[in-house]
Amino acid sequence: MSLFDGRFIQRLVVLTGAGVSAESGLPTFRDSDGLWEQHDPMELATPEAFARNPELVYRFYNSRRAQLAKVGPNAAHLALAHLQRAFPGEVFLVTQNVDDLHERAGSSQVCHMHGELLAMLCSACGRQSPTAEPFDGATTCPDCASPGSLRPDVVWFGEMPYHMDEIATRLADCDLFIAVGTSGLVYPAAGFVRTARAAGATTVEVNLEASDTAGLFHTQRRGPATEQVPALVEELLAGR
Ligand code: APR
Repeated sequence: MSLFDGRFIQRLVVLTGAGVSAESGLPTFRDSDGLWEQHDPMELATPEAFARNPELVYRFYNSRRAQLAKVGPNAAHLALAHLQRAFPGEVFLVTQNVDDLHERAGSSQVCHMHGELLAMLCSACGRQSPTAEPFDGATTCPDCASPGSLRPDVVWFGEMPYHMDEIATRLADCDLFIAVGTSGLVYPAAGFVRTARAAGATTVEVNLEASDTAGLFHTQRRGPATEQVPALVEELLAGR
């Protein structure tokens, strides 16, 4: 139990977006240098795009996976891992990001609602397999050995995100909802703040600028995640 903003807080939900990894050197999607400013997401991040041109999609995710190997977690990831360990209550960390920087910062039980770059999904046996290496249509499934059945284990536009039942339960039950580095433009994640507020939670947005859903948050912590998140974590832990 922790006192925050005059309220006793027992159950936290933290949602992160690409902005939490920006200062590690990974591009976001919609900033001026973002991935969707350089590439058409409809050509790279839909099941139809994969069916149309699998090699292009394999190359896109192989290149993002290679880039991920060259960067490391930043102070925001580390602060959230510390919060998970030190907070005297529950901290449910759900991320839209497919990188593993939360895990590499020491976070446990990270809920990857949009999947993970470091995993392959087999359309023949349905199993997910870890990978840090490039793969393509010539790679066989490590589980069922089917050829040409592997895709990136990333949730594409038009697909249902993972773990939505657990996320809904956590949101309905939380006292504090914190969103870090997300533009609030992509549902269902963009709607989480509304669900948390309906459950009576205090809601805080950490972002460089106002997101599309900024008006739904009780308070804003404006600035880079590597500054704002450690400060917010310190405040939460001081309230113990
Ligand atoms: N500190 C805090 N916030 C930051 C920082 C930073 N250093 N840098 C950028 N931001 C903020 C931006 O202001 C923006 O609001 O992070 C947000 C990034 O927004 P997007 O690029 O839209 O990323 P995200 O919200 O995670 O996208 C959601 O869209 O394309 C899909 O599946 C993809 O998971 C992704 C989803």
